[in-house]
Amino acid sequence: GRVAVFMGGDSAEREVSLKSGRAVLKALQAAGVDAFGMDIQGCLLRTVEAPEFDRVFIALHGRGGEDGILQAILEQAGIPYTGSRVLASSLAMDKLRTKYVFQGCGLPTPAFRAMTSEAEAENIVASLGTPLSVKPAHEGSSIGIRKVSSVEELVDAYRVAAELDDLVLVERWIEGPEFTVSLLQDRALPAIGLSASTEHAFYDYDAKYLADDTNYRIPCGLLPDDELRLQQLALDAFRVVGCRTWGRVDIMQDANGDFWLLEVNTVPGMTDHSLVPMAASAAGISFEELVVRILKDTLS
Ligand code: DAL
Ligand code: MG
Repeated sequence: GRVAVFMGGDSAEREVSLKSGRAVLKALQAAGVDAFGMDIQGCLLRTVEAPEFDRVFIALHGRGGEDGILQAILEQAGIPYTGSRVLASSLAMDKLRTKYVFQGCGLPTPAFRAMTSEAEAENIVASLGTPLSVKPAHEGSSIGIRKVSSVEELVDAYRVAAELDDLVLVERWIEGPEFTVSLLQDRALPAIGLSASTEHAFYDYDAKYLADDTNYRIPCGLLPDDELRLQQLALDAFRVVGCRTWGRVDIMQDANGDFWLLEVNTVPGMTDHSLVPMAASAAGISFEELVVRILKDTLS
């Protein structure tokens, strides 16, 4: 049947999604799949009422596409789609509640608090210490994330994050290195180690999509046993959130060598700078094969 690649959308990650979507579309077509792209903006309900497609490849990032809303609409319409279903999509889009689940399952995640007003800054610094990471709870691609080291900086960062989101997460800053583990068909692919150049305080939006000096390590540089431990942790995170088929789990390692879960991404980037394609390639899986495998699982 015909496959619609949903891309674009209205989220802050629209531009990233257009890149992911175009890359996915090109690969599906190269693999002989009857596919076309749809830039999804505004109301989706009409699109699925009399669909001109039989399946959807979701290449939407962020709110409205990755967060369970679209998934629920497609469920309701009886149209198969790629990736995680409603609950896992919604949960993973909420970094705060994802951490409650990690915690509840005994999985390591940096100490954290929800922040609901500037007045809490002093108390949060007193209880979590510094440095801290301040994040809008529902954004992707590091949008709105700041590292802070004082009450004043926390107040400023809170204002920035609260502009973007009604929920702000503050967590203990782990210096890194950062790793990311891609999951495909419920198996972990080789881990990637990440370090931004010194100009970027961490692996931020610019480092992700614009910079050419971001350092990706694959193999990731860990000893084999440590990489296995890292992959197992990613798989555990993927499972407790309830994800399906594919995703990417972001993890920090502290100076003691311990790993800390940050978040799960249910529609990871698929641009030419992106990590899942890189990990797949290291496992001998071409981009074409990767998208075909993700698509195949829609029928399971
Ligand atoms: N949110 C971006 C697209 C990622 O996780 O790759
Ligand atoms: Mg994310």
